[in-house]
This record gives sequence, C-alpha cells and structure tokens, in this order.
Amino acid sequence: MEILHSISDVKKYVKRFKSEGLTIGLVPTMGYLHEGHKSLIEKASSENDRVIVSDFVNPIQFGPNEDLDVYPRDLEHDAKLSESAGASILFNPEPSEMYFDDAVTFVNSSEITDVLCGARRPGHFRGVCTVVTKLFNIACPDKAYFGEKDAQQLAVIKRMVRDLNFDIEIVGCPIIREEDGLAKSSRNTYLSPEERKAATVLSRSLNNAREILKTGERDADKIIKAITLDIEKEPLAKIDYVEVVDSLSLKSVSKIEKSVLIPIAVYIGKIRLIDNFTFNI
Ligand code: PAJ
Repeated sequence: MEILHSISDVKKYVKRFKSEGLTIGLVPTMGYLHEGHKSLIEKASSENDRVIVSDFVNPIQFGPNEDLDVYPRDLEHDAKLSESAGASILFNPEPSEMYFDDAVTFVNSSEITDVLCGARRPGHFRGVCTVVTKLFNIACPDKAYFGEKDAQQLAVIKRMVRDLNFDIEIVGCPIIREEDGLAKSSRNTYLSPEERKAATVLSRSLNNAREILKTGERDADKIIKAITLDIEKEPLAKIDYVEVVDSLSLKSVSKIEKSVLIPIAVYIGKIRLIDNFTFNI
C-alpha cells in the first residue's frame, strides 16, 4: 500500500489503474480508523480491483466551536488498518493541498441538509459535499462507500450523486458497534469512563423503539416519546434531537407507512453522539 500526500500522485495511480482496466473503490474518512471504517474498506476491497482510502480531517465541515483542533489523528495506525483491510492507496493530504486559499466554488445542497444534523451544524454538509466531490474528481471511483452510522450524510451524498450526474455507485454499509451496542466512532475517545457507560443509552433506546414498532405501533410521536423517556432516564444524557423521518427525503413523518429512518443525536456530557436505525415495513 502507498501512502500519498499529493493530489497529482493519486491521479497518476488512478490513470494507471484505469488504463489497466481496473475498477476503483473509494472510502472517504477523516482518519483515526476503527472497525467501522475497516468494514467499509473490506467491502470496497471485495468489490473493486483497487481501493483508495482518503484520510483527511476536512476543516471546512467543522463549525467554529467544534472539535477541529482536537480531532484525534494517528496516521501510522490508519496505514496499518487500511493495508490489512486491502487498501492500495492511503491518501493523506494537508489542508493546503486540498483547498486553494481563494477558492470560490463549493457544493451546496438544500432541504435535505436543512434538517437533523444539518439544521444544528450550519455549513457542515456544504463542507462534506465539497470535499467528497473533490475526492470523487481526484480518485475517479466506480463505487464509493459510506456508513449508515451517518445516515443523513449517506442520504445527502446519494442525492448529490443523482442530482449532479456523478457516474459513481454509492454503497451504504451497516453500523458497526461495540459489544455493548455503542456505535463505533472516532469521537468515542472523548468520553470519560462514566460517560462511556452512559453512552449505551443511545442504542438501548433505539432497540426498545424497534421492539415497539414490531408490535405494530405506527404513530411516530409515540416512538419519539418512548425514545425520549428512555434517554431522559440517563442523567448524563441530553437530547439534541429524536425524529422519525422518510428514509429518502428526511422529511418528518407522523404515521409510519413505509421505510422510515429514526435518527437521534444526544449529548453525553459535552460530547455529541449520533445513532439511528431504519425500519422497513
Ligand atoms: P468519518 O467520520 O471518519 O467516517 C468515515 C466513514 O466511516 C463514513 O462514511 C462513516 O459513516 C463511516 N463510519 C463511521 N463510523 C462507523 C460505524 N460505526 N459503522 C459503520 N460505518 C462507520 O464521515 C466522515 O468521516 C466525513 O464526513 C467524510 C465523509 C470523510 C468527509 O470528510
């Protein structure tokens, strides 16, 4: 596996792969890789001749009061994990390599980014869509892999690919969890031991909601109420949002009649965690 820092080096490899008729899978990440990322890289390796993993803490998707400066990094670990999962290239550029100081062109989407995390993190999805578009143009992948953990991100990227006619298949991959149910996340390292225990309330509340749905309940408000009550039992937890939305448009649903996404965002102490599940009728 090659570790590359410049766009032109990646493009050289991409050109060679294409001339040899090889397919390319792209796995965009911000590094500090864990089993969740690994599952994406392994899936990409099983479906493509070559896999490019990007490892870039994208400054323009962080808000002014967010964790850009303290976001965890470990390139050596990331290289080992990527290589063992089958990657051919780990692309780790500096921000100055990715962005011109005087750039004036960004990728924006609306409606689908005005809800859930997009409503609470202004500019976040503009940063995500812009960097992902740039990575698509650099890596020219046949397929790109995203986790269902970030369900809104996955929906936004799928819409962007459709709306802008990218010739790329977006592959969604299931959420990988710790043994106690907590969705794996690079940000879990911020949790104190006490908070780490409290954080299991997210998956627990969603599991309970799934059971209620299985009994036939179809009133979204009742599902939201049940999740809210569960989370409120945990003293360290504070709800940011609990919603029931259409899986494609992410618009709120009151009666559950087709596939819905149930996403939640919860502060555990100062750390904001997200989780979700999709319920198909
Ligand atoms: P990052 O948070 O590093 O996540 C990279 C990819 O790994 C995303 O598609 C995310 O959904 C997926 N992922 C994270 N945790 C996961 C888990 N527990 N199970 C399954 N998949 C998981 O998401 C980003 O980076 C950035 O926004 C990015 C798309 C790279 C743009 O900068």
